[in-house]
Amino acid sequence: MRDLRGRTAVVTGAGSGIGRALASALAAEGCRLALVDVDPAGLDETRRLLAGAGAPVTTHLADVRDRARMAALPAEIAAAHGAIHLLFNNAGVTINESFENSSIEQLELVIGVNLWGVLYGCHYFLPYLKQAGEAHIVNTSSMAAFLGLPNQASYSLTKAAVKSLSESLRVELAISNIGVTSIHPGAIQTNILKAAARYGGDAAQTARMEALVQRFGMAPEKLAAQVVRAVKRNRMRQRIGIDSYLAEWAKRLLPVAIHAPLRWAFARAAARR
Ligand SMILES: NC(=O)c1ccc[n+]([C@@H]2O[C@H](COP(=O)([O-])OP(=O)(O)OC[C@H]3O[C@@H](n4cnc5c(N)ncnc54)[C@H](O)[C@@H]3O)[C@@H](O)[C@H]2O)c1
Repeated sequence: MRDLRGRTAVVTGAGSGIGRALASALAAEGCRLALVDVDPAGLDETRRLLAGAGAPVTTHLADVRDRARMAALPAEIAAAHGAIHLLFNNAGVTINESFENSSIEQLELVIGVNLWGVLYGCHYFLPYLKQAGEAHIVNTSSMAAFLGLPNQASYSLTKAAVKSLSESLRVELAISNIGVTSIHPGAIQTNILKAAARYGGDAAQTARMEALVQRFGMAPEKLAAQVVRAVKRNRMRQRIGIDSYLAEWAKRLLPVAIHAPLRWAFARAAARR
């Protein structure tokens, strides 16, 4: 989709981080925006930040794990905006914890938001995207899709699943003139690890990762510019950040050996706990 002006974009997880930056970049492209999040304060803040952009913006409180709410959302957004052209399935959470120490509730949370949220989004918005004549879906995966990370089993599995889903949809939906892109960010300076700390898990590791990401991670605005370009070029996937490229190359070149340093790091961290 070369020209985004006047198109309606739905962004989940728009109340913070990557979703907020995407919303802002899309507003600058002239999109109408339907912002979706479970956090009303975050949604209000994003709407306030976009006030000067002149784009029509609506906010929609929704938990992407809530099937009935997700089923009702497209009609609500279509009533407010008319057609729906762009869907960014972006809401996501993580928890730093070994699989052994993860509770079933923690696994359900990560899989519910990161995978079921994306499946519901694709499923329930698809008829509306088809109606638009030309449309695009962007699913937020991660560099964690390229290799299973320790203390991130639930997160890695959801991101690999989102990558796989996007590949299937890309082929299936081409005949309906719907492009599909999966994005694979490395470390991005957002609130995801602050949120992770609230969900439990290994607090010390979460704090260490948060410090590293805030120091070396990419600004979400930079990511958003790359994602907008990827949509305009109808790219199948977009790796974002040198760490994402390195993770993918390392896995391709050393599919088994790359897990040895991860094993060493995990054992070292476990001994420190
Ligand atoms: N930050 C990174 O380093 C990084 C790297 C790769 C991928 N990602 C992915 O980017 C996406 C956005 O994360 P972020 O980094 O901007 O984090 P963030 O915590 O800053 O933003 C996530 C947003 O999702 C919302 N959200 C959480 N659970 C929800 C639910 N059940 N229903 C609706 N909204 C919900 C939160 O309220 C928040 O506004 C996620 O899918 C994440 O996995 C992030």
